[in-house]
Amino acid sequence: MADMNFTGPDPELQDLLASRPQLEMHAQDGLCFEGVPLNSIADQYGTPVWVYGAETIRARYASLHNAFAAQGVPIHIHYAVKANDHLAILNLLHKQNAGADVVSIGEFLRATKAGIAAKNIVYSGVGKSEAELETALAAGIGQINAESAEEVEMISTVASRLGVIASIALRMNPDVDAGTHAKITTGLAENKFGIAAQDIPAIYARSSSLPGLQVVGIAMHIGSQILSTEPYRLAYEKGAAMVRALRQTGQNVEVLDIGGGLGIGYQDEPGLSPDAFATMVRRVTNGLDVKLMMEPGRYLVGPAGLLLGSVILQKRAGKRFVVLDAAMNDLMRPAMYEAWHGILPLDPTAYRSAMSPADVVGPICETADQFAKNRALPDLKPGNRVALLDAGAYGAVMSSTYNARPRPCAVLVDQGGFHLITKRQEVQALWDGEIVPST
Ligand code: LLP
Repeated sequence: MADMNFTGPDPELQDLLASRPQLEMHAQDGLCFEGVPLNSIADQYGTPVWVYGAETIRARYASLHNAFAAQGVPIHIHYAVKANDHLAILNLLHKQNAGADVVSIGEFLRATKAGIAAKNIVYSGVGKSEAELETALAAGIGQINAESAEEVEMISTVASRLGVIASIALRMNPDVDAGTHAKITTGLAENKFGIAAQDIPAIYARSSSLPGLQVVGIAMHIGSQILSTEPYRLAYEKGAAMVRALRQTGQNVEVLDIGGGLGIGYQDEPGLSPDAFATMVRRVTNGLDVKLMMEPGRYLVGPAGLLLGSVILQKRAGKRFVVLDAAMNDLMRPAMYEAWHGILPLDPTAYRSAMSPADVVGPICETADQFAKNRALPDLKPGNRVALLDAGAYGAVMSSTYNARPRPCAVLVDQGGFHLITKRQEVQALWDGEIVPST
C-alpha cells in the first residue's frame, strides 16, 4: 500500500534543526522559532501550547506564488482552510492575497470573518447540505466544486430558489494513485470523491442546461502529502484533455482548479518543490487558456507551526517512555496515520548529551497515544520542554478534548514578538452546553 510515511532512518536532532530555517538553537535561550525563544512562550502561557510563525507562512506563500510567476503562469491560490482554520492565520493569508477553499459552512464563515471576500472562496466537498449551499450562495460565494450529478441538481434548485446564478466547476476524479497514505488519497476511482472522467461530458452538458447555474470548468484534487510531481502530471494531463474535449462539444470552460496536496519534509525527505511543481503545471497547461486555481493547505502552514509540550515524567520500565503533557487529542497525526514528527528539546545542553531510544507518549489511556517510537533522545527530566515539529497543518484543527483534556492555547510569533491568539480552554468549558435532565 502506498504510504505517506517516509521510512528512512531518523535524522539527527542537528539535521532537523539545520533543515528548518525558522528554527535556531541559542546557547543561552535554547530553541528559538523565528527568533523568539520558545521557553519565553512556555514561561508565559504554559504547555501544551501551539506556536505558529507568521513570517514562515508569508515566506511559503511567496515561494509558491513566485514559482508560478517565474514560469509566467498566473495562479489563483485558494488556501485550504481545513489545514489550519485559525482566524489569525486566515487573516494573514488574506493579506497575502489568498482566497480560500472551504468544505463546510463553518469554514466559509470563518474565512469571511477573517476578511476573505465570499467571491474569493471556493466550496469543495462531497456532501454540502441545502442549508449550507443556501448560506454560501446568498453570501455570494465565488465557486462551488460539485462532486456528483445529484449535487449539481441540488445547487441548481437552491440557486433558482434564491434567484442567483451559482458558478460551478465539476470535480473530476482522474483515477490516479497519488502515492500517499491510503487515508488521504482521493483521486482513485474507488474513493468517494469527484466524478469519473467518462461521466463528466454528460453531466457538464446537463449542468449547462439547468437554471441557476453557470458551469465554469473542471476541478481536481488527488490527495495530500504528495512528494512527487508525477501523479499530478498524470492527473493534469487528463484534466487538460477533458478541457479540450468539452470545448470541442461547444462547452464553455474557463477554469481549471488543480487542487492541493503538496507534500512537505517531515522526516527530512525532500518536500515537493514549488519550482518543479510550477514547471510541470506550465508544461501541461501550455496553450490551454484557462484560469488556473489551486488549493494548497499543508504546504503553506505545516512547517509554520509546532506543539510545545513538557515532560511529566520519564518512565523506565525496561524500555524508556517519555510522558508529555501533550497527547493524541492535541496532535492526532501520529496516532491516526503513523505520521512522523520531529521532536526537539528546548534545552541546548540536551544536544550534547548521550542519546538513547525512547517512546514519546501522552497521558491518554490508549496505546495509540504515542508521538514517536524508539526515538533517539537525551535523558529528559520532568519539566523539560520539547517541540513537536511541523504541526501547523492538521494539528489543532483535528484535536479533540478526549479524556476531558481542555484545548491548549495558541501563540503567533511575528517580527520578533509573540501574541496569544487562542486562550487556553478552561476545564469548566468542557461541560458548557451539557444538560443533566432533572427527572
Ligand atoms: N482541496 C481539497 C478538496 C482537499 O480535500 C484538501 C485536503 C486540500 C485541498 C488541501 O490539501 P493539502 O494541500 O493540505 O494536502 N488530515 C490529513 C490530511 C487530509 C487532507 C484532506 N484534504 C493529514 O493530517 O495528513
